[in-house]
Amino acid sequence: MRKKIVAGNWKMNMTLPEGVALAKELNEQLTADKPNCEVVICTPFIHLATIAPMLNDEVIKLGAENCADKAKGAYTGEVSAEMVKSTGAQYVILGHSERRAYYGETAEILKEKVKLALANGLKVIFCVGEVLEEREAGKQNEVVSSQLAGSLFDLTAEEFANIVIAYEPVWAIGTGKTATADQAQEIHAFIRKEIAKQFGEEVAQNTTIQYGGSCKPTNAKELFAKPDVDGGLIGGAALKAADFKGIIDAWKE
Ligand code: 13P
Repeated sequence: MRKKIVAGNWKMNMTLPEGVALAKELNEQLTADKPNCEVVICTPFIHLATIAPMLNDEVIKLGAENCADKAKGAYTGEVSAEMVKSTGAQYVILGHSERRAYYGETAEILKEKVKLALANGLKVIFCVGEVLEEREAGKQNEVVSSQLAGSLFDLTAEEFANIVIAYEPVWAIGTGKTATADQAQEIHAFIRKEIAKQFGEEVAQNTTIQYGGSCKPTNAKELFAKPDVDGGLIGGAALKAADFKGIIDAWKE
């Protein structure tokens, strides 16, 4: 059966000492009280090499928040998938709405990033989601379907096995406005159907689909109770160990 995954996206938060302290606290808590799901922390690039050797791999994995769309060379300021992998990280978030909106990442660019990430042995948390106007116009299915097809549907089924989907409605990110559990379930089921059309029912059933957008300890249980919601991609609430642990514990009775 597919994995349940709770992943933290630290975004552009935490100095190195702050990030190390948070990772240490989480690692201790999860080692003492084992999670019922896979847990990933996705940190800024500069934290990766320091945090990787601190983590108990059995309870917490590490990821980056982005990687370059080029393999290597004269691309000042960029960080390649191979470099991310060499730190000990196992995951990378790609296609986050903030990268699409503020840094002009198109479906084509993301397609290149996904290929390079997979070629370097990273698992990809690929984000999709509509903005408020698209939701209000009832276009959310159309939007996520084209985001999936535009960057992922040229992969083979074997490659796609290393993709986790994060459905993150942009109107719910950092706004305190969560999608209802029913809204999440409806679109997660749709995403799974789209994956089934492209890669077959077995691949679709094995794909982890996370919800992201103002997920908190208080609403995680209701969201995760839905059959097609396989965990969460957590922003703000991933910056405090107690909140993040509260969401992870939503998978416990
Ligand atoms: P918030 O949990 O802060 O709404 O952010 C969600 C998100 O964008 C995770 O990638």
